Amino acid sequence: MGLTRKGKAPPDTTATLVKPAETSIKHTPTPNHTTASSEPTAKAVRISAGPTPVRHPVPLEARIGSIHFNQRLGLEREKEARVFGGGRTFFHIENWTLIGVLLKYGLRLLGLTARGKRNARAIRLTHNRVALARLPAAFEGYRILHVSDPHLDMADDIPHALIEAVRGVDYDICVFTGDFRGKTHGDFSRAIDGLRRVRTHLKHEVYAVLGNHDSLGMAPEIEALGIRVLLNEHVQLRRGGQDAGLYLAGIDDPHYYRADNFDKTAGNIPAGAVSILLAHSPEVYRHAAFANFDLMLCGHTHGGQICLPGGLPLLLNADCPRQFCVGRWRFRDMQGYTSTGSGACVLDVRFNCPPEITLHTLQRS
Ligand SMILES: [Fe+2]
Repeated sequence: MGLTRKGKAPPDTTATLVKPAETSIKHTPTPNHTTASSEPTAKAVRISAGPTPVRHPVPLEARIGSIHFNQRLGLEREKEARVFGGGRTFFHIENWTLIGVLLKYGLRLLGLTARGKRNARAIRLTHNRVALARLPAAFEGYRILHVSDPHLDMADDIPHALIEAVRGVDYDICVFTGDFRGKTHGDFSRAIDGLRRVRTHLKHEVYAVLGNHDSLGMAPEIEALGIRVLLNEHVQLRRGGQDAGLYLAGIDDPHYYRADNFDKTAGNIPAGAVSILLAHSPEVYRHAAFANFDLMLCGHTHGGQICLPGGLPLLLNADCPRQFCVGRWRFRDMQGYTSTGSGACVLDVRFNCPPEITLHTLQRS
């Protein structure tokens, strides 16, 4: 029995996750965009533009290492649906079934359900300018479209809302900072189907990291859609034929599975190079800053999702100061941005906390 699209990882998961049809990865060269794994044994790889499958020359277990592979799947089996314990926070509201029921009937009693659902689908485009002193000249004006926490299977019309939001936006690459699935366990086929619909409306290269709602088993299926999943890996971006590249790195979920490994992620990035980190949660902002990242893009908090008037969050579900939980922030020499997310979880509603996609524009300061 192998890992199934139901998200459960039975004991013998290796065979399925390294099955050639799903995870043997052949990268296609492109003239202006080269990617390289941080794994010392992995070959330099290239990704083609457009929604063609991302293929890697080595199976997933060999690519990310047996320890990461076995730990992630083992932890998923043991505690993916826990309400208490594990992860960086003690209480995991997303796994508390009762809160969803209370919220659903409470909003119905108050007559607020339709408004909350409308709010959750009104995704706005926000802009963030990032000044980086050492930005290579070729990357002046480089635009990164940042989507976080889409939770694509929360309702049938959620993918459509995201498609409408990204339609017509100009950018150079698109990045997802995790949480494709609504629940933290179970079937992920609807989330993958929703992502497939969204992917056909995305231009250029697309990268992603996994969140606490995502299974490692989703990575091969996401890559089959032409989205490179960075699992404690980095890639080098090139623009205008310049060798002086920009590095894009991504860690596996740092919130619940604590599967982040900065040594593997950033160890081979040359000193002095400009580097951007994708992380699901802002909770590792200190680790990222001391690993010399220049910019960190993340999500996870949903900005609170249900906030008091004025946008005051009731709960941010993150073990870090609130200043790092919404919007732009800075820690030492690193800049950061925590997206409020494009989706919603527990219930597909939002109040006083609009969903967003963000266009980050890089500039030389
Ligand atoms: Fe989320």
